[in-house]
Amino acid sequence: MSASVLVTRASFPDIIDRLREHFDVADNPSDTLWTQDELIERLQGKEGAVTAGSDRIDARLLDACPMLKAVCNIGVGYNNVDVAACTERGVLLTNTPDVLTNTTADFGFGLMMAAARRITESERFVRAGKWVTTGRFDMLLGGDVHGTTLGILGMGRIGQAIAKRGALGFGMKVIYHNRTPLAPEIEAQYGARYVEKDALLRESDHLIVVVPYSASSHHAIGAAELKQMKSSATLTNIARGGVVDDAALATVLKEGGIAAAGLDVFEGEPQVHAELLACTNVVLTPHIGSASVTTRRAMAALSVDNLIAAMGVGPNAGKPPTPVNPQVLGVAPTPA
Ligand code: DGY
Repeated sequence: MSASVLVTRASFPDIIDRLREHFDVADNPSDTLWTQDELIERLQGKEGAVTAGSDRIDARLLDACPMLKAVCNIGVGYNNVDVAACTERGVLLTNTPDVLTNTTADFGFGLMMAAARRITESERFVRAGKWVTTGRFDMLLGGDVHGTTLGILGMGRIGQAIAKRGALGFGMKVIYHNRTPLAPEIEAQYGARYVEKDALLRESDHLIVVVPYSASSHHAIGAAELKQMKSSATLTNIARGGVVDDAALATVLKEGGIAAAGLDVFEGEPQVHAELLACTNVVLTPHIGSASVTTRRAMAALSVDNLIAAMGVGPNAGKPPTPVNPQVLGVAPTPA
């Protein structure tokens, strides 16, 4: 008898169909957003799951779903999953790194440019017919991007891909803050300079946040940090809601404490703080950093490959390509 697996969100049917070659598959073609209790109910009898950031996988769920062996999360981030709880129970967690690096870096860079050059605000201006009545030489002046200082908080794969775009494409000076500085030969590729967080805040013309969400990065950018930034600066968050204090940001944007912001992720998303919705100098997008056709398909395919391998079938049986807690498989984790 084939094992049963669950796919919690709708994505690409042809990719999900690959699971049907090996397993009994239950899915969610209408893409209903399940509560955790509904998810628990649907996971009964399931040995594996393809999950997404909207699914909370914690000790409560794992204890209620004792047959579950593998959780294959679509996304490089997995702050929706309690990794320790999975590991303690021998449940494998996988994610989808690498395949989204360049697409997400493109988007982050674009969002920063949109904020700096007031692109969406200008679009609203044209659509409202205001160009015809109030167009002036000095209308909608923004800040330059080329030749300015790009600050990056979190210099992992995506942070480095953004640094590359800024340094090599736009002649930007790159400064960054990270848990650990990069090796000098990697810094040299982008002319990137490690600085303390306070210096990053003070010196950046355009600050992009790419740090993973954890208890220690919660509100890494709050009122005190925003106060240190230049009034001409922009802030872009493509990391996770909660890394930036959205309420504090809305206040600073309203008061002109910084020039503009670009946000793809929000505290409590898909809800967006009402004060942010009321700000004109913020570009808001619905967590689509990795949303190109090619990349979203690659992410779905990688999660399917992970699940097939985690369940001990297919060409990589027992060796899922991108495990988060490989110790469950008896493999030592790679140092962070
Ligand atoms: C990721 O991969 O973590 C993206 O933010 C999509 O969730």
